[in-house]
This record gives sequence, C-alpha cells and structure tokens, in this order.
Amino acid sequence: RGKRAFIAGVADDNGYGWAIAKALAAAGAEILVGTWVPALNIFETSLRRGKFDESRKLPDGSLMEIVKVYPLDAVYDSPDDVPEDVKANKRYAGSSKWTVKEVAESVKQDFGSIDILVHSLANGPEVTKPLLETSRSGYLAAISASSYSFVSLLQHFLPIMNSGGASISLTYIASERTIPGYGGGMSSAKAALESDTRVLAFEAGHKGKVRVNTISAGPLGSRAAKAIGFIEKMIEYSYVNAPLQKELLADEVGNVAAFLVSPLASAITGSTVYVDNGLNTMGLAV
Ligand code: NAI
Repeated sequence: RGKRAFIAGVADDNGYGWAIAKALAAAGAEILVGTWVPALNIFETSLRRGKFDESRKLPDGSLMEIVKVYPLDAVYDSPDDVPEDVKANKRYAGSSKWTVKEVAESVKQDFGSIDILVHSLANGPEVTKPLLETSRSGYLAAISASSYSFVSLLQHFLPIMNSGGASISLTYIASERTIPGYGGGMSSAKAALESDTRVLAFEAGHKGKVRVNTISAGPLGSRAAKAIGFIEKMIEYSYVNAPLQKELLADEVGNVAAFLVSPLASAITGSTVYVDNGLNTMGLAV
C-alpha cells in the first residue's frame, strides 16, 4: 500500500507545504492537509473552483489529489485551551475539531494511521520588530506557533504513526546566524525547532521507530515570507552570494523532503538538512 501523509501548513499553492505535498503525491503517497482555520474557506473554495489545477499537475501529467482538508490551529492542543474570543470568532465558529488533539483523533477515525507527518507552518506576530523591541507575548506567540506546534503535532500523531514513519519540518538559518529583520522571536523559535528535532528524534526513535528531521530552507517568496517584508532582498542576496547562482524552487525543497521521509533516508534522523543553494556555507558576501 502507498504511504499516507498529513501535511500541516498548506493554505495556497505558493509555499513549501504545497511543494512537499506535490513531491509526496508524485512518489505515490496519499495526501491529507491541515489548513489554518482563518485560511480554510478561501483555500477550499479555490481548490474546488480549480484555481490550483495548473499547480496540481504532477510530472506524469495527473493532478495531485488532496484526499481531505482538515481545519487546524496548531497553537491550541485541545478545546480547553481555546479562549472565548477565538471560539466566538466567526471563522472559527464555522468549523469544528481544529485543535491538534482533535485533528489527530479525526485522522485516526477517518484513516486509522499515517506514515508521514509534515510541519510547514510558522507565525510570529512581531516578526518585523527587532528582538530588542519584542514583547514577551510576541516572543511566546512565535514559539507557540512555530516551535511548540511541532512538539504538539508529533505528540498527538505519533500514536497513529506506523513504525518506520518519518516527520519533517522547515527551519531557517536565522536560528544560528544573525539575520537582521527576522525578528519577533522567530530566530529563537527556529533555534528551538532545530534543538527539538534532535531531542524528538531520540524520543520518537525509541518510542515509535519514527524519524525526525528538519530542512533549513533558503528564501522563497511565499505568503508567510512576504509578511516579513524583505523577502525579495533575501532572494536577491542569495542569488548573488550562494555557491549556486540560481533561483531556489519550492519543488527542490519538496524533493528533499520526499527523500528524507522515504526509506532512502532510513538512517537519517535528528538532522538539519540545508536546501539553500549552499548559501549557509559562505563566510563572506561577494
Ligand atoms: P506559507 O505561508 O506557505 O506557510 C505557512 C503556513 O502556516 C500558512 O499556510 C499559514 O496558514 C500556516 N499557519 C500559520 N499559523 C498557523 C497556526 N496557528 N496553525 C496552523 N497553521 C498555521 O509559507 P512558507 O514560507 O512556505 O512557510 C512554511 C515553513 O517554511 C515555515 O516553517 C517557514 O518558517 C519555513 N521557511 C520559509 C522560508 C521562506 O523563505 N519562505 C525559509 C525557511 C523556512
């Protein structure tokens, strides 16, 4: 039987999550996605109306099938954690069972198990503020949405992951080198995500024979990246300074993710793998 993947953090056809979904679908996996509740309506409508059909095309000419879209807000683990104002919010009230625990239960009910868990989401409300000007709540919100969200997803999905399964997340070099402009505690959140990748690889390896890796990706003009404000500059900087002077395609990250969750990478776990045209290896800008 083909493998089944749950990909958290797909809300359009521009980001890394979508590209990973495509690479996995091309390799024969069944695709389930988790879409942020406030973005759910427009994503489902666009899917239904064929707006993504061109980018659903796989190398063999067929269209990627998303078997089910689950509403998800990865900053809440169970209904008890949801504040009243969020519960009352129209967009949230219109869907149900979107906390991490409930989504894992729904997937279990619908499909029984999964083989692959992908975390392709991040959020930092104060990302445009330097760390020196970041509030406690902004910092904690960045960690909650961008780091703990992975801990929580793995906690809740591990029990339904088949032995030999694998998970993957997306990180950024701001965790280890200073990237002015990547603020609000987002650099801290990525450092936590990479450290957690090592610890969770140990724990999930022992507990469920599941591998845990993260991809440190180069800059991509996704919706989330545009919110940071200087993504075009980063792309240009990479183009000029990286060993490989070419555009970084989301599909290149998708392909490495597909490799890392496949049996070809059966001895790789706890790793941060760079997919950035080699930019991380440079010590001096050209
Ligand atoms: P994206 O906009 O395609 O993906 C981010 C997704 O996170 C969106 O679909 C958004 O709806 C979702 N999201 C935000 N808060 C959420 C929550 N509380 N619960 C559930 N979903 C939530 O953008 P992108 O850039 O593809 O981001 C994917 C991952 O790649 C992120 O972890 C990001 O930090 C990482 N990354 C991106 C780089 C870039 O240059 N675009 C570079 C390196 C890493």
